[in-house]
Amino acid sequence: MPEPPIDPNRPSAARIYDAFLGGTHNFAADRAVADRTAELLPMTPRIARANRAFLRRVVRFATARGIRQFLDLGSGIPTQQNVHEIATEARVVHVDVDPAAVLYSRHLLGDDSRVAVVHGDLRQPSLVLAEPAVRKLIDPGEPVGILMVAVLHFLPESPALTAALRDYRELAAPGSVLAISHAAAGESPAELERIADLYNRTGSSLLPRTTEQVERFFDGWRLVEPGVVQGPEWRPDPGDDTTGAAGYLTLAGVAVR
Ligand SMILES: C[S@@+](CC[C@H](N)C(=O)[O-])C[C@H]1O[C@@H](n2cnc3c(N)ncnc32)[C@H](O)[C@@H]1O
Repeated sequence: MPEPPIDPNRPSAARIYDAFLGGTHNFAADRAVADRTAELLPMTPRIARANRAFLRRVVRFATARGIRQFLDLGSGIPTQQNVHEIATEARVVHVDVDPAAVLYSRHLLGDDSRVAVVHGDLRQPSLVLAEPAVRKLIDPGEPVGILMVAVLHFLPESPALTAALRDYRELAAPGSVLAISHAAAGESPAELERIADLYNRTGSSLLPRTTEQVERFFDGWRLVEPGVVQGPEWRPDPGDDTTGAAGYLTLAGVAVR
């Protein structure tokens, strides 16, 4: 997909998230949304860090199952111990719809031949999968780790989304892994509604979903224990404190094919 120009005045989900993580890949417009969000929900930077921790646990889980290739859909800006740094022997394709995230990702990842960054909308799998980098690095005959971490809550229900989920499932060879984390309204629906309004400025709103709705994204896959749970409770590392997990307003689950 040709990359549209970067508009520093329009906030972007990837750069706002980077601001929550204390990163430097963001503009004033992004920091304004991040600051206002943190005023409404002071937990937000911790939520962002906990989500990245889930990403790392999932990549370790998939790697331990022998997965050596990852399709990271809605990858954002891959800082802070990202997929390629955990799965050091795997091939990784990052896909993001935000041209700034793509540019920063390419800059950060340098010329590592086992990692590529593709500009694309995950709801258009035929375009994503036809990208030369995807064809080069992802072997459809081999199990793949498909990551949709903190991205589906930007996408409303649509026939295109349903079809895309089906297409990725059909691409996935037996043994593949699908990981999803997703915003949950939990006990702060009013705050999240106001945050969703702020995110409207990015061009895509924030749509928290229920456990049942998130489980539906795994149709055709087999959820592994403990199923779709509060993010910090998905197979925490020894020593992780999961007290107040519901306050992270994140649901997370992992399934295998
Ligand atoms: C909150 S960030 C999550 C980044 C990363 N997955 C993580 O959890 O650390 C969400 C990312 O999804 C991207 N995104 C939103 N809609 C998308 C779409 N339809 N296709 C691909 N990427 C999308 C945004 O641009 C943003 O970079």
